[in-house]
Amino acid sequence: MKTVIITGTSSGLGQAFFDMFSRESVHLLCIARRFLPYQEELAREHHERINLIPIDLRDVERITAKVDFTKLLPIDEIDELIFINNAAVVEPIGAVGQLDQEKIIEAVQVNVTAPFLLTNALFAVPKLVDSNIKIKVLNISSGAAKRTIDGWALYCAAKAGGEMFYDVLAEQYNNTNTVSIHNVNPGVMDTQMQEKIRSANNVHFPNRDRFVNLKNEGQLPSPQEVAQNIVKKFLN
Ligand SMILES: NC(=O)c1ccc[n+]([C@@H]2O[C@H](COP(=O)([O-])OP(=O)(O)OC[C@H]3O[C@@H](n4cnc5c(N)ncnc54)[C@H](OP(=O)(O)O)[C@@H]3O)[C@@H](O)[C@H]2O)c1
Repeated sequence: MKTVIITGTSSGLGQAFFDMFSRESVHLLCIARRFLPYQEELAREHHERINLIPIDLRDVERITAKVDFTKLLPIDEIDELIFINNAAVVEPIGAVGQLDQEKIIEAVQVNVTAPFLLTNALFAVPKLVDSNIKIKVLNISSGAAKRTIDGWALYCAAKAGGEMFYDVLAEQYNNTNTVSIHNVNPGVMDTQMQEKIRSANNVHFPNRDRFVNLKNEGQLPSPQEVAQNIVKKFLN
């Protein structure tokens, strides 16, 4: 059976992935701090194949205890495993020197520490990489990993660090044809994250107008469209 693990399924791109994969007959493991009523209903209806795991990704001390992949993954029944590291926060936006200390810590927890811990725990599952299971990891990154955006020090740094982590992981497995790791830049899209970007008007963020214009000019694709393109490009 194909197993798909997604973080951050409550909105935007993660929700679009949820909608796609919940329609297929795959084992779906969703890691998020909240679930939408229809997701809970679907999980009740298809409890044998849809697991919702509630966790706040800021809670890095408890994350691997709460998300115990060794217990959650029926290794002997899996032939393909997809891990989509999607959850992220763009905040804090603003000038370094004026950032809220707690928000800095949270950004690193959600965007850096949590995915690194989850990925490390996943690759520690006994028999996973030594079997014939096809493993694909998609790290949902951003153009901000490679391009500085004034006011986004935390987000740019986290995405750059994430890409390097998954590049090193890719190198670890480059002699294995069952494991593939990709950094994926989804491009801008019309989600809650873009709303937060547009509303960052009282902080140092010189390029805010660019994002406001993208929305006003109808240049933000839907997360559904982006999810379909990612699946076509990386998962087929
Ligand atoms: N939108 C864009 O234009 C854009 C462009 C480039 C890259 N990306 C990347 O695409 C991915 C998806 O972003 P999106 O635009 O779909 O953003 P989004 O709509 O804000 O969704 C982010 C998801 O992450 C979850 N999340 C945030 N903090 C969390 C926490 N502490 N614990 C658990 N879950 C948490 C959110 O949950 P809540 O709903 O509970 O907050 C939500 O489900 C991200 O990696 C983002 O960096 C987005």
